[in-house]
Amino acid sequence: MKRFGALGLLAILLAACSSEDTPQNVFRPEGTQAQKINDLQVPVFIAAGVVGVIVITMVVIIVWQFRSKRHAADEVPTQIHGNSKLEIAWTILPGVILLPIAVFTVATVFDLAQKPSDALVVDVVGQQWWWEFDYPDQGIVTANEMVIPVGRDVQVRISSRDVIHSFWIPALNGKRDAVPGRVSSITFQAEKAGEYWGQCTEFCGLSHANMRIRAIALEPDQFDAWVKNQQTPAVDPTDAAAKAGKDTFTGRGCSSCHAITGVSDPKDVPLVAGAAPNLTHLMSRTTFAGATYNLITSDCSVPPPGPTGTPKECLNRGDLEAWLRDPNALVPMAADQQRGMPNLHLTEAEIDNLVAYLSTLS
Ligand code: CUA
Repeated sequence: MKRFGALGLLAILLAACSSEDTPQNVFRPEGTQAQKINDLQVPVFIAAGVVGVIVITMVVIIVWQFRSKRHAADEVPTQIHGNSKLEIAWTILPGVILLPIAVFTVATVFDLAQKPSDALVVDVVGQQWWWEFDYPDQGIVTANEMVIPVGRDVQVRISSRDVIHSFWIPALNGKRDAVPGRVSSITFQAEKAGEYWGQCTEFCGLSHANMRIRAIALEPDQFDAWVKNQQTPAVDPTDAAAKAGKDTFTGRGCSSCHAITGVSDPKDVPLVAGAAPNLTHLMSRTTFAGATYNLITSDCSVPPPGPTGTPKECLNRGDLEAWLRDPNALVPMAADQQRGMPNLHLTEAEIDNLVAYLSTLS
């Protein structure tokens, strides 16, 4: 029975080794910098594995060989002291293994620390429980999804507005802590168009697990189109429901945290802890709530995220409405302590109008 139990446990353990559908697999680099890390970690992993197996095997053999059953309880084992040959060997051998590892590690660390002068700069700000992405040279502020051009270095400058978070997109580069009052920088480059998932890797409270990152790499011309769209102010709604939704947005307190260019101006919105994602181009994203909920329905196949985003008929209305009804039912937050979105106790009519308004923010 015990044996079956052990087998079952082993099966569960090995299930974690599946290589299919693992967007956050550290052994699957898809960027220049992640490739350098992988080139280092694989040989180190193998060397450490071989040493580990040898040490564990020897321990098991010795424990078995010298177990008390085979010797009388009062028998004192042969006392040995000092063996110069052995001691010299086990001093030199680790040195021989560790020296090349150190040389290649230090070289890679310096290599990864380079800041290319022509890189696209993105300021990443962690906050309970979502990521903001600012493009200072383009004047763009967005959230949850970081759009980058294929084949160009991106320098992310990482910081935080509240507690320590950690920014990690395994396929593109290593992780880096987001520390309030400090800016840490890493550079990465996506080799091909597509999406790259990451998430917060420093425990940061209630919804740490719901603090995801979706990086979307677009071909350069598509990226330029995305930039152009992001730079335009929100278009004023024309139909009645959306107009009413805009009034709800400004009248019911949404605009005291969420910026929409031309509606609730970023300079009037105090972007401190308690602030919220900029919604100017909400519908150009495909996720919301820390990138944990889809803004598009699952049966609506929006091709690799385009420059302007979600067609209206693809809107995942159900989750968006549920979020407006009671955000804490979807993602645990502590809104009473200015951590996350509060329940505004909106009426169903207000929710309908808000959704009508939000869906115009393309
Ligand atoms: Cu942010 Cu964990």
